[in-house]
Amino acid sequence: MGETILELRDTKAYYIIEKNFVRAVDGVSLEIKDEIIGIVGESGSGKSTLSNVMLMSIKRPLTFMGGSVKLYTNGNELELTNINREELQKKIWGRETSIIPQSAMNALMPTKRIRSYILDVMKSHFEEIDEKEIIEKAINRFEEIGISGEFINRYPFELSGGMKQRAVIAVATLLNPRLLIADEPTSALDVATQKMVLKTIKELKDKKIVKSIVFITHDIATVRQIADKMVVMYAGKIIEEGTTDEMVSEPLHPYTKGLLFSVVTPEPEVKRRGITYIPGTPPDLINPPPGCRFHPRCPERMEICDKEEPLLKNINQRRVACFLYEKR
Ligand SMILES: Nc1ncnc2c1ncn2[C@@H]1O[C@H](COP(=O)(O)OP(=O)(O)OP(=O)(O)O)[C@@H](O)[C@H]1O
Ligand code: SF4
Ligand SMILES: [Mg+2]
Repeated sequence: MGETILELRDTKAYYIIEKNFVRAVDGVSLEIKDEIIGIVGESGSGKSTLSNVMLMSIKRPLTFMGGSVKLYTNGNELELTNINREELQKKIWGRETSIIPQSAMNALMPTKRIRSYILDVMKSHFEEIDEKEIIEKAINRFEEIGISGEFINRYPFELSGGMKQRAVIAVATLLNPRLLIADEPTSALDVATQKMVLKTIKELKDKKIVKSIVFITHDIATVRQIADKMVVMYAGKIIEEGTTDEMVSEPLHPYTKGLLFSVVTPEPEVKRRGITYIPGTPPDLINPPPGCRFHPRCPERMEICDKEEPLLKNINQRRVACFLYEKR
């Protein structure tokens, strides 16, 4: 696959609370190309925090502890960790990278028409705005993604969940960002509406409105419907990455296997292997388990697993962090 849009190298971001460090993103490296990447993992695995690192939108108590976040744009390489918040707001967010934050549609003010929300978002990116031009652009974008432009005059309470979410998508992509991050965009919706919103998100790439999409969810079944590539997070780290097809047909990491096999699915291959579950709960990120962070829950755990940490290693087109796949 083609050009690299964003590249994370060994990024760490911790929440610092009193004297405790919550290691929410702990050494994540990831290359995002012009593709749809699904990021999947249980609640608390660090997915939303990682989206903040991708944007370099870091607010206390979250603290950036190190690593590199490079944006590639028009042949230039921009190190986002060197750019201050104000400049990111004016030059990068919305235009190069944009996000549909988790629960965004529920955060819309019920007493403000959608058009005021659009203008507010645009005012955060520009010193001055031409309101008429922006509203025209918004109407076009609404219609491009299949909703009537008239909806911009409505109040959020007048819109269904699916309509609200599509309005949020339209606003997040108004300036044609190269990378769009969608954080759990379908989680609060019923199944039929989820399908419609997934289709809308997929079409953003087909219609070349955006180049790359990072789709975050705790639901592996949703990732399978939309993503070319799948990244699995566990306790602040990436533990496996590969094409969605390969990951589904042959998951390598015991945690990925647990995630896949705990989903009730019509996939015959998965059905054949039976439905299991992942015992235990995700670890405390202030004092994560030593060695492999998954070892207390791992059915395939070995002697070495609580002593040393497995590194994320390349195996053909995959990456996996597990001693089962390290030649020793
Ligand atoms: N504002 C905060 N202050 C302290 N700790 C936080 C804060 N936000 C998140 N955390 C912690 O950081 C870790 C990662 O949280 P994050 O929200 O990134 O996970 P997530 O994978 O997005 O979860 P979910 O699926 O529930 O959205 C969790 O342990 C969480 O409790
Ligand atoms: S490194 Fe060990 S504990 Fe961790 S997933 Fe692999 S086998 Fe399980
Ligand atoms: Mg989250």
